[in-house]
Amino acid sequence: MKILAIETSCDDTGISILEASGDKNPNFCVLSNTIASQIKVHQKYGGVYPMMAKREHQRNLLPALIKALEESKLLKISNPKPQNLKFNQSQKLKTLNFILEREPELFKKLLLFFKKYEKPDIDLISITNGPGLEPCLWAGVNFAKALSYFWDIPIVPVNHIESHILVNFLDKPVDLSTGPAIALVVSGGHTQIILIKKIGSYKILGETRDDAAGECFDKCAKILGLGYPGGPIISNLAKKSALGPTSPKLPRPMINTKDYDFSFSGLKTAVLYSWQKIKKDPVFHSSEKNAQQQTIANMAGEIQQAIIDVLIKKTIKAAKDYNAKTIILGGGVSANTELRRQFLKNFENVIFPKPELSTDNGLMTAITGYFDRKKKVAPRKVATIKANANLRIGQ
Ligand code: KG4
Ligand code: ZN
Repeated sequence: MKILAIETSCDDTGISILEASGDKNPNFCVLSNTIASQIKVHQKYGGVYPMMAKREHQRNLLPALIKALEESKLLKISNPKPQNLKFNQSQKLKTLNFILEREPELFKKLLLFFKKYEKPDIDLISITNGPGLEPCLWAGVNFAKALSYFWDIPIVPVNHIESHILVNFLDKPVDLSTGPAIALVVSGGHTQIILIKKIGSYKILGETRDDAAGECFDKCAKILGLGYPGGPIISNLAKKSALGPTSPKLPRPMINTKDYDFSFSGLKTAVLYSWQKIKKDPVFHSSEKNAQQQTIANMAGEIQQAIIDVLIKKTIKAAKDYNAKTIILGGGVSANTELRRQFLKNFENVIFPKPELSTDNGLMTAITGYFDRKKKVAPRKVATIKANANLRIGQ
């Protein structure tokens, strides 16, 4: 079966087409993985503004769909001539207009697209309906609903956190027959430790009580004036760090608590105070540019290590407590090479996606749609699908 997936939970517009075959041991063939990144737009503001991100999704969705269909060789001009759709009289147009009530520009462009191109050979549409930024989720959900309804293709709503986990099954299935797995999903919006007994059976064991790990990277980078997104910037700078007795020391919040929860907002505040102190220090001011840069690199190294220490300690504790044989990483922060290296050093079987599949993308949504295909909704029932910014895995 061919799955068209749409992912707009945050600031990446992801559209992918995945071909899946086999049932018990599925084989996946990636036909397209198109991502329209908004980093340049949000860099200017040092973070993601949901309404701005939504507008970008509205702009990016159709070009990304065309690109994905083209790459998959599924884009065909209507033959022999463009369909003569009597839209203004049809009930179909009215319903489509209703689905895209809040996306008038997209509605106009989609009409032209539907007139120009044939219905593609797609069996299922998979759409992220939460958790995420509500306006962004709605842009993708409305678009997917319009495609499902107009092309008469079933649609399945999928959970974004589950997608960060299941993207790890793309190359080969994770063995859950010998015991449960523990997933650590670490992104800009979430930090959760999840017990997985089988695909579809999840329990959140712990999560952040305030900021997510990725959010902490981003906010610390902002404090240090390093730009957005903070994770990759801090990670690159940290490679130049030389941590020693004189380099900055930061707290490891909640590292010794007996639960599986996290808290990162105190770490960010500690970075703020520490950085303010360094900036006031005459020694820092009078030192050479190179030495100043080394101080910042050391700070980056210590921020990264503080986050890694807490993530590893809590996740491995959960794996031991639940007798899990595998730890599965997912989410943007799991692209961090040092986090991966230290996990591998401390636990026997750790699985993570390719770095470009750690951050948001459409493929994660496509594979989850495949595993969740029994939850598909008929095209005439698309109205039942809603975005849910606070959707929880395992409920
Ligand atoms: O999963 P994701 O793409 O979007 C959300 O669902 O939030 O994660 C984005 C987050 C950002 O906070 C970004 O700074 C962080 O992932 N990130 C990283 C790295 N690459 C992205 N954090 C640490 N190290 C990285 N290499
Ligand atoms: Zn994500």
